[in-house]
Amino acid sequence: MDMRVVGHRGNSAVAPQNTLAAFEAAWRAGADCVEMDVQLTADGRVVVIHDDTVDATTDGAGAVAGLTLEAIRALDAGSWFSPAFAGQRVPTFEEVVAFLRRRDIDLLLELKDVWSPDDVALCTEPLLAAGLAPRVVVQSFEAVTVGALRDAAPELRRGLLLEAVPPDLDDLADELGLAAVNPDGALLATDPTFVARRHAAGQEVAVWTLDEPWEWQTAERLGVDAVITDCPDRLRGWLVGREP
Ligand code: G3P
Ligand code: CA
Repeated sequence: MDMRVVGHRGNSAVAPQNTLAAFEAAWRAGADCVEMDVQLTADGRVVVIHDDTVDATTDGAGAVAGLTLEAIRALDAGSWFSPAFAGQRVPTFEEVVAFLRRRDIDLLLELKDVWSPDDVALCTEPLLAAGLAPRVVVQSFEAVTVGALRDAAPELRRGLLLEAVPPDLDDLADELGLAAVNPDGALLATDPTFVARRHAAGQEVAVWTLDEPWEWQTAERLGVDAVITDCPDRLRGWLVGREP
């Protein structure tokens, strides 16, 4: 079976990352799944944005955690990428759920930094209520956040993001009940048996962020399950173009 195509922050090569325009473009590109990043506002609402400030991807300034939802929603999240995307907003989590109901695409949701079980529930409850559990994996670099996910919504699949392999990964994977362990591409390059070891332990592997055909070829040879890429249209084209 082909590796699954995951649009990193949407189809972020052609539209401003982590906006509805980028998610729509990922779906139109034939991505199996859309990856996105979420954070909490000052008033405890979930918004889709990668950085812990709004500076780089909106026309505003300041920490996401220091701004209210209303203030963040007033910002333009498209013009920094191109004037053609003026008017794009930082998505709310309600908009994410509506997008997933509208389009047949899976979700790889990344919770940035440390979240409590109560905060995690702001994401997991709407996903479960919408019946989206079979289409979702929620991941984090923070083991404590993945633990909060396990406690708040054990029925949702969970993933741990890695830049290096911790010595206790097998124990951690058991303790957190991981369905996926998702490494940086550089880690795979230095640890070619990583994928086989995770498969033997019962986890899937989605590697990030690979945008070049030679990288996709290496990932395929190593047996990864999914590639997270800024260019889902190119990866889909590469996969389809090789078929007889
Ligand atoms: O999904 C993995 C990848 O997105 C993690 O890195 O910095 O792009 O969120 P980052
Ligand atoms: Ca991410």
